Amino acid sequence: MPYYCAMNYAKTTIVMAMEAEARPLIERLELKQQPAPGVPVELYGDPGGPVTLVTNGRDPVTGVDNIGTQPATLAAWLAIERCKPDLLLNAGTAGGFAERGAAIGDVFLSAGAIRFHDRRIPLPGFREYGIGNYPVVDATSLAARLGLKTGVVSTGNSLDCPPVDAKSMQANDADVKEMEAAAIAWVASITATPMLAVKAVTDLVDLPHPPEEQFVENLALASACLADAVTELLPLLRAG
Ligand code: ADE
Repeated sequence: MPYYCAMNYAKTTIVMAMEAEARPLIERLELKQQPAPGVPVELYGDPGGPVTLVTNGRDPVTGVDNIGTQPATLAAWLAIERCKPDLLLNAGTAGGFAERGAAIGDVFLSAGAIRFHDRRIPLPGFREYGIGNYPVVDATSLAARLGLKTGVVSTGNSLDCPPVDAKSMQANDADVKEMEAAAIAWVASITATPMLAVKAVTDLVDLPHPPEEQFVENLALASACLADAVTELLPLLRAG
């Protein structure tokens, strides 16, 4: 393995939204659940150990997984407070764009910056604040080594892709759209914690087939691809 591929993060905390996305990885890494009192967030693995994982937990009213930016912020904050990671790794599923060459099951490592696409605030200073533009660790050579794609991750709180968001995503140069990364990257930026995102494609939002149907059809496949990629990635993150 060429040395230049490896990084030197002794402790990584993986931040994930949904139980179904995380379960294959929790089992593969044999992480045991830990108490996380007072918040819906679920914590797995020894907080002092090299790899921990948090999920957003469930909404007490509807019983579904907490997804989107508010729970992601809470989970990222808890991850940093409890685990004190050297790297936050946001792993999850995403929508891709067929016209940009994405396919179902592709796994992307974040490149450049992570941005929001649905926080349109046309006021001085707030426009940039709304978009975010949070930096990520350069993982170009890791991606090449693992045969993964790289791309810009764009975050919003909806699964669909209306024209107004499509325009913002085009301005963001987005390769994948999802619902947590920019919130986690914001917490990473205010705590000076390095951050990387890894996203597996469940749906292609520029095809006529509704993304929600594609998502349901492809969630298990994409989650398995994600678990494979993260399992290969983790040793390289602490190999330096
Ligand atoms: N996660 C998986 N597919 C998505 C999509 N189309 N939009 C937002 N988040 C997603």
